Amino acid sequence: MVNILVVGSGGREHALSWKLSQSNHVETVYTAPGNGGTENNVELDVNDLDGLAEFAQKNNCFTVVGPEDPLASGIVDKFNKLNLKVFGPSQAAAQLESSKIWAKNFMKRNNIPTAQFEIFDDAQKAIEYVQSIDFNVVVKADGLAAGKGVIVCNSDTEAISAIETILVKKTFGDAGNKIIVEERIDGIEASYIALSDGNVALPMASSQDHKRVFDNDKGPNTGGMGAYSPTPIVTDDLAKKIQEEVIEKTIHAMKNEGILFKGFLYAGIMIKDNIPYVLEYNVRMGDPECQPITMRMDFDLYDYFSASVDGTLSSMPSLSWKDQFAVCVVLASDGYPGPYSTNDEITGFENISSSTGVFHAGTKKSNGKILSNGGRVLGVTSLGDSLESAINIAYSEIEKINWSNKFCRSDIGKKGLSYF
Ligand code: AMP
Ligand code: GLY
Repeated sequence: MVNILVVGSGGREHALSWKLSQSNHVETVYTAPGNGGTENNVELDVNDLDGLAEFAQKNNCFTVVGPEDPLASGIVDKFNKLNLKVFGPSQAAAQLESSKIWAKNFMKRNNIPTAQFEIFDDAQKAIEYVQSIDFNVVVKADGLAAGKGVIVCNSDTEAISAIETILVKKTFGDAGNKIIVEERIDGIEASYIALSDGNVALPMASSQDHKRVFDNDKGPNTGGMGAYSPTPIVTDDLAKKIQEEVIEKTIHAMKNEGILFKGFLYAGIMIKDNIPYVLEYNVRMGDPECQPITMRMDFDLYDYFSASVDGTLSSMPSLSWKDQFAVCVVLASDGYPGPYSTNDEITGFENISSSTGVFHAGTKKSNGKILSNGGRVLGVTSLGDSLESAINIAYSEIEKINWSNKFCRSDIGKKGLSYF
């Protein structure tokens, strides 16, 4: 039996903790720092690598890293040096997410389909470039900016203002020392996530996120307002294409360049004319994609994490999934992704059906009560035999949970319905 330490505090980490605690091999699941929904919380910040290593050593833990920041800081390299088992990519492998420029150059030299791009550190040169081309662009800060350093532009004027925001005003700090200006691709987005041991990659079930804050994809980008799995947008034919031309190509090219990619590889895909373009890589599970994907897992997740670390995924049985749809509606605090209030009491958990997963994100426990403590507060995740029934169940469940600033999109999953 093994103890697990899940690093992180979001809905993704609650879902992973929940699933891992069902494993026959797992004794206790700790979460650092966790939230109001996770058990056995350990008061350590995700960036306190020394503290986390000490805890894992003392408690004989297999560590699972949820978010990108500690991965980019080298938590996996540090734990490996100490002979501690840890699931996730090394610092070198995490560059696929921590430097968008590194990732774009990697894709270019390995012929992985992505939007054409130019790199700038000089605002004037970037502006001249934008004025010289006749297509719309997306301007991206190079480094990690909590999902906010990407500005999708509808005109030269918007592009120039985006360039100034990142390179001149430094709104995203040093993450914006360099920018990518890339062609805007107007297609359909989906998330494709695979689990790798550096040699092979097993695909997770497909999913689709809803990044904008308001219905019909209006308003600013967020971390994700809801997700569902599987998505009919990723047909079997497309899944095969993405698996071969994006995921396997990436894992093999990384290996050829001397970097074993272990962990979750997430490709944010834009599909246009049946071609899957990589918009971004993440080196971790998606949040909220993790919540519906985890609800559909019909296998022991710890076994696969362990095989990823040991490099033995090729000898594992293929993954099996519940033949149902899962829909996760994110309940947020009104105002998110801008300023919002916290410390509001959340009620109604006792009325939720046992087959629905209520994954906590921005919550905390205080005197036996659950209080809001973040922008994205809960991910209510329901299963249904059709996408439509999963949507209906999720939306009837969210009515049972209340707090004064509850807010959510009302159209999670609906984009998928037109495909049936
Ligand atoms: P990223 O963090 O790179 O995934 O970008 C955030 C969001 O911006 C994506 O989910 C897309 O909706 C949008 N986006 C990024 N790159 C492009 C692109 N080249 N064309 C169109 N939309 C894009
Ligand atoms: N839901 C998008 C992400 O995890 O980056």
